[in-house]
Amino acid sequence: MRHTAYVFDAYGTLFDVHAAVRRHAAEAGPDGALLSEIWRAKQLEYSWVRSLMNVYADFWQLTEQSLDFALKKVPSVDPALRTKLLEAYWRLDCYPEVPAVLKALKAEGARLAILSNGSPDMLASAVRSAALDQVLDDVFSVDAVRRFKTDPSVYDIVTTNWRLYPDAVSFQSSNRWDIAGATKFGFRTVWINRTGQPDEYADLQPSLILPSLKGILASR
Ligand code: LAC
Repeated sequence: MRHTAYVFDAYGTLFDVHAAVRRHAAEAGPDGALLSEIWRAKQLEYSWVRSLMNVYADFWQLTEQSLDFALKKVPSVDPALRTKLLEAYWRLDCYPEVPAVLKALKAEGARLAILSNGSPDMLASAVRSAALDQVLDDVFSVDAVRRFKTDPSVYDIVTTNWRLYPDAVSFQSSNRWDIAGATKFGFRTVWINRTGQPDEYADLQPSLILPSLKGILASR
């Protein structure tokens, strides 16, 4: 089936979450990569725990709180970097193939959107800074339902707004747990396994696994 609706996860899939620390790598020192891993892991943990409790705080607050935890956990990184790291999060690099792939899909008449845990402000800023605003038809934030992925109400934002059945949507994410949630919801799913991770969630398999978004064009 040739899909005409493509939805992309944002952080880790279009935008490189480790670009913030990398931009300040010299100042962060040798433990910068460790700090970045802990920052990201805690940010996600907070999103899952809050969704389970049904106590929402937006993704920007979780991003700040998880960085505070990471800075305490990795004391070799100067906490004075906090402001710079948070600022960098508003204009993360996108992965190199992203603009060309999105443009090519758009040129074929596909409908394109982001569906992300990110707050509307964070997403608008990242999209603008990577100049993706020209190609995306919509940027959907979980903020509309005040739950985080993998709550089904999040994936439902797309089908409700676009008035499509789930299987008409091709959903791309580098986060295997997000692919599990999207598969359960009924999307056609493509796991962008950028870092060669082992597979998980055997009962919730993606339709396709690719090392980057490039393969999307050839896979239809
Ligand atoms: C997002 C998280 C998964 O962009 O990074 O939704």
